[in-house]
Amino acid sequence: MLIASTIEAVREAVATARAHGRKIGFVPTMGFLHAGHLSLVQVARDAGADFIVVSIFVNPRQFGPNEDFSRYPRDEAGDRAQLESAGVDVLFLPQVEVMYPAGAATTVSVSSVAKPLEGERRPGHFDGVATVVLKLFNIVQADIAAFGRKDAQQCAVIERMVRDLDVPVQLAFGDTTREHDGLAMSSRNSYLSEEERAKAPALRRALRAGEEAIAHGIHDVDGIEHLMQKMLAETPGIVLDYLVVIDPETFERPVDFARPLLLAGAVRVGKTRLIDNVRIR
Ligand code: PAF
Repeated sequence: MLIASTIEAVREAVATARAHGRKIGFVPTMGFLHAGHLSLVQVARDAGADFIVVSIFVNPRQFGPNEDFSRYPRDEAGDRAQLESAGVDVLFLPQVEVMYPAGAATTVSVSSVAKPLEGERRPGHFDGVATVVLKLFNIVQADIAAFGRKDAQQCAVIERMVRDLDVPVQLAFGDTTREHDGLAMSSRNSYLSEEERAKAPALRRALRAGEEAIAHGIHDVDGIEHLMQKMLAETPGIVLDYLVVIDPETFERPVDFARPLLLAGAVRVGKTRLIDNVRIR
């Protein structure tokens, strides 16, 4: 596996692979990799990629001033070992100055889908995500890029950006990878104490309760949201941020239960904020 820390090195590796007829897959990450990230390598391969680039960059621009940028978990050696055994071809590991040289003055800002939920609670977050993802797309110039559906709103924002700006990349989305008790895998799970970890699957249980209600023919947005919130409240010590029924494309309140729906939630367990969702087709 080639470790590239400059834009030129990644571009050269990708250009050579492409000249040899390889199809380039890209998985952007912030590191501290788990099985969910590795499943995205497979998602890119399943979509036809046979030369895989993974980036690890903890993007300062997508963290708010009171968020966890400085303590975001890092494990470069462990990440490298996992990517080697997954057969990844290039690991792009840029420093902040490579991604944001002095004087960088451009921000990509997506409206509509980026506004509610995470966008409302984390001002500037999706501007940071869209800006770094577009930069990474321009650096890597992959044919296929894979993202995890755990960050459902991020997927919608990136899809919107790619469509609106005619970015020549095919997006592939991977289902959420879960622990044995249903907790969505996340690098931030490492913040949880043993006691908090035991409470965390309550978010998934609440979302499942909403899913079951819809399966049983309850087509009332307020009623489903209330039910999910009631289910969450059964676990003390877990603090509701939101639990909502939403249209997964527009991120607006759904008007039609015949269309796909998203049940999305965010909670706090101690100091850790967790998100999860269930897609209803
Ligand atoms: O999902 C993430 O890990 C990040 O938001 C991403 C897409 C790598 C951009 O920094």
